[in-house]
Amino acid sequence: MLICSVVGARPNFMKVAPVYHELRGRGVTQILVHTGQHYDATMSDIFLHELQMPRPDVFLGVGSGSHAEQTAGVMTAFERICLEHQPALVIVAGDVNSTLAGALVAAKLQIPIAHIESGLRSFDRAMPEEINRIVTDHLSDFLFTTESSGNENLLKEGISPGSIHLVGNCMIDSLCKHIGSALARAPWQALGLHPGEYGLVTLHRPAAVDNPASLEGFRHALREIAQHLSLVFPVHPRTRQRMDATGLDWQPVHLVAPLGYLDFLGLMAKARVVLTDSGGIQEETTALGVDCITMRDTTERPVTITVGTNRLAGTSPREIVKTAREVLETSPEPKSAPPLWDGMSAGRIADVLQAWMERRR
Ligand code: UD1
Repeated sequence: MLICSVVGARPNFMKVAPVYHELRGRGVTQILVHTGQHYDATMSDIFLHELQMPRPDVFLGVGSGSHAEQTAGVMTAFERICLEHQPALVIVAGDVNSTLAGALVAAKLQIPIAHIESGLRSFDRAMPEEINRIVTDHLSDFLFTTESSGNENLLKEGISPGSIHLVGNCMIDSLCKHIGSALARAPWQALGLHPGEYGLVTLHRPAAVDNPASLEGFRHALREIAQHLSLVFPVHPRTRQRMDATGLDWQPVHLVAPLGYLDFLGLMAKARVVLTDSGGIQEETTALGVDCITMRDTTERPVTITVGTNRLAGTSPREIVKTAREVLETSPEPKSAPPLWDGMSAGRIADVLQAWMERRR
């Protein structure tokens, strides 16, 4: 019985890697398919390498494009791979276009689907990821959730309770495994920073960076905060293109190229605060106990607010600056991690899948 895992974009790698390693440790035959949605070395190769993943068995080389082009490109190429290899199960993770495309192909070929990080909902269909999450979940046979809100969302949407498994967070499995080596690299040193004395910024969502007025608002807020706290900002390629188009000055915010998994994890762990529009970083900061300011109006990860260290600041520059000031004036409080964010989620997923494989034999 062959299991096929699909990866494509940066946030997929740290979710799929623990499950891939766990299944390999249990002797399961697997193939790893890389769609090529992300293709720069800094967005892909370095993650596979640092997460100790093998070279993908298949590389679809789809690259960038409109949503339809990218999704259709993955579908056309991945269908051929499924027909050739006849996997018993396809594993997809998260909410990127490669996730949706992989799930659509498998569903049409009647191949069962396992979705890692199921059930998250922002209730904002202007986000492409929200469409990807909803469709992928409704096509999946095994829905592995990271937090109980995911179970509630799926049940409200009529998904059968028997397919939903609250297993915790695979991204935190990767974090637990690699935090030691990430800290040993002391990535803040090369940037002239000191632990606890800098902020770390990421921004890449279309709603945040594609609209020049919105990008300008973030620039304004971040430059203001950087008057009081050094800010380092590894810039995603999408954001870099938009910044280059405006040609505006971001000083004193320190812009750097995208970082690998270990350097980013190390920087995040010792940041005084993280300012982001990312979903995964809200979770990683929660697990690390680092204050996070989410520069969005919604989050699909409510446990990061109720249990964790996350604050939803919205997108107005004034609110972002105000929230940053509040965070910097308050001592960070120790928090416990959300239930099952214990580094063992991949083991729970493998238990469910192995029991299913036994029944199918
Ligand atoms: C995608 C995901 C998003 C995820 C993000 C993480 C979708 C709909 N979006 O957004 O959920 O949070 O990945 O990074 O799947 N580019 C490069 N090199 C690369 C990849 C992209 O230069 O290796 C540039 C290209 O100009 C491309 C643009 O970045 O057009 C956007 O890439 P794309 O994969 O379309 O979406 P992301 O913004 O990365």
